[in-house]
Amino acid sequence: MKRARSKRPARARPAAARTAAPPLSVVILAAGQGKRMHSDLPKVLQPLAGRPLLAHVIATARALAPAGIQVVYGHGGEKVRAALASEPVSWVLQEPQLGTGHAVQQVASQLDDAHRVLILYGDVPLIRPGTLQQLLELAGARSLALLSARLDDPSGYGRIVRDARGHVRRIVEHRDAKAPRELALRECNTGVMALPAAPLKSWLARLRNDNTQREYYLTDVIALAVAQRFAVRALIAPSADEVLGINDKAQLAAAETALRRRTVGELLQAGATVIDPERLDVRGRVRLGRDVVLDVNVVLEGDVVLGDRVRIGAGCIVRDSEIGADTQVQPFCSIDQARIGSACRIGPFARIRPDTTLGTEAHIGNFVEVKNSQLGPRSKANHLTYLGDASVGADVNVGAGTITCNYDGANKSRTLIEDGAFIGSGSMLVAPVRVGAGATIGAGSTISQDAPAGELTVARSRQVTVRGWQRPKKRGA
Ligand code: UD1
Ligand code: CA
Repeated sequence: MKRARSKRPARARPAAARTAAPPLSVVILAAGQGKRMHSDLPKVLQPLAGRPLLAHVIATARALAPAGIQVVYGHGGEKVRAALASEPVSWVLQEPQLGTGHAVQQVASQLDDAHRVLILYGDVPLIRPGTLQQLLELAGARSLALLSARLDDPSGYGRIVRDARGHVRRIVEHRDAKAPRELALRECNTGVMALPAAPLKSWLARLRNDNTQREYYLTDVIALAVAQRFAVRALIAPSADEVLGINDKAQLAAAETALRRRTVGELLQAGATVIDPERLDVRGRVRLGRDVVLDVNVVLEGDVVLGDRVRIGAGCIVRDSEIGADTQVQPFCSIDQARIGSACRIGPFARIRPDTTLGTEAHIGNFVEVKNSQLGPRSKANHLTYLGDASVGADVNVGAGTITCNYDGANKSRTLIEDGAFIGSGSMLVAPVRVGAGATIGAGSTISQDAPAGELTVARSRQVTVRGWQRPKKRGA
């Protein structure tokens, strides 16, 4: 969609030519160690917006609907596979790791000669599918396409060497570049390339490791292609952010910032009011209704759905939850894996834990914790309460300081509070227990047997007054 709006006139290609494009195989290189991370976690599992780097790359690859995705893994081997076990990819082990060319050699036998191949890096996570689509359109039976970037600081990167007419001739790695003229080149290799499978395989077979790192460089296929009169086309990435390679924690933090800006920008485009775009974190996917307001230092994680006119106060963390229209979440709440109805009032300082469901107009106030519980419409727990493993009906009022004693040290049990019940402040509800519809519990009760519907139940020792009692005095006074 975006490309249609770009200034470059879109060259119309007949639909038939599009459908005739050969099937696509994506190869993701993810075997490198990532020494510069100084971490026990393999580099491609380092989290970006709450998900492993490699998961971002796989998601981008999937957006292209390829025939297959092959991930070359090695360092941190089984950890990497286990962390991403549910991804629809094939895993290919590279052991030992002798360079990017050697990595692609490991999958060569599994690549169909008739396919196009797109090579992605597990440590370059922010590329947009649209950019890759453009790259793929530049690759053909006799041409390959590589993604380059103009960088202010090209150190560490391979440089794109062009001839006098501007044609790409080869790539020279930073460490192998001797001529100052080469080191001064600003156009860098991002590592991403698209090319036909059959010639790729023949070039891979001819790679040599006669370079400073004694590695088999994938980048050397460019010179081999040029020698065979293949066209080599370089697409300059629309932004340096997209092709940021992540080798250390500083680059990881820079990617986090870039991705946050991108996702917050999308929320703004969708109509959200964001009080300070620099102080909103989105680590996942957010779906929004109209006129949603997000105050400062809000963190949205995983899958979050916010209905029309939802307001999230400062300092809240909302993770994998759905919040209904017109609900207000006041500052400093934590909401995790919950479904919150419409027109509810939450917080400030409320903690809503997994498997909680709140009905319309429910209120959960300050210092209230709710876990694995359902509250019906208009029910309230406004102060200092723990509701765990509880089923609460409609129009229930839970007084301050009430606790469901759901755990006996070995097992969890449920508390049932039926419609219209009133639980006096400071009550202990010792589960399993049931409070009938319309029942009233006297304040300070410890309820360990069912309380009948419609009646007042009080369970506490009777108040006594000891006449003439004197406070103890300090000895020797
Ligand atoms: C590579 C490119 C360089 C480019 C840069 C962009 C080569 C020779 N150089 O250099 O031109 O500018 O990326 O970031 O390709 N990997 C394996 N197996 C290996 C070695 C690497 O799977 O044996 C994977 C790594 O996990 C990583 C990617 O390949 O995802 C790139 O490897 P890295 O060592 O970071 O290459 P660079 O030296 O950065
Ligand atoms: Ca790298």
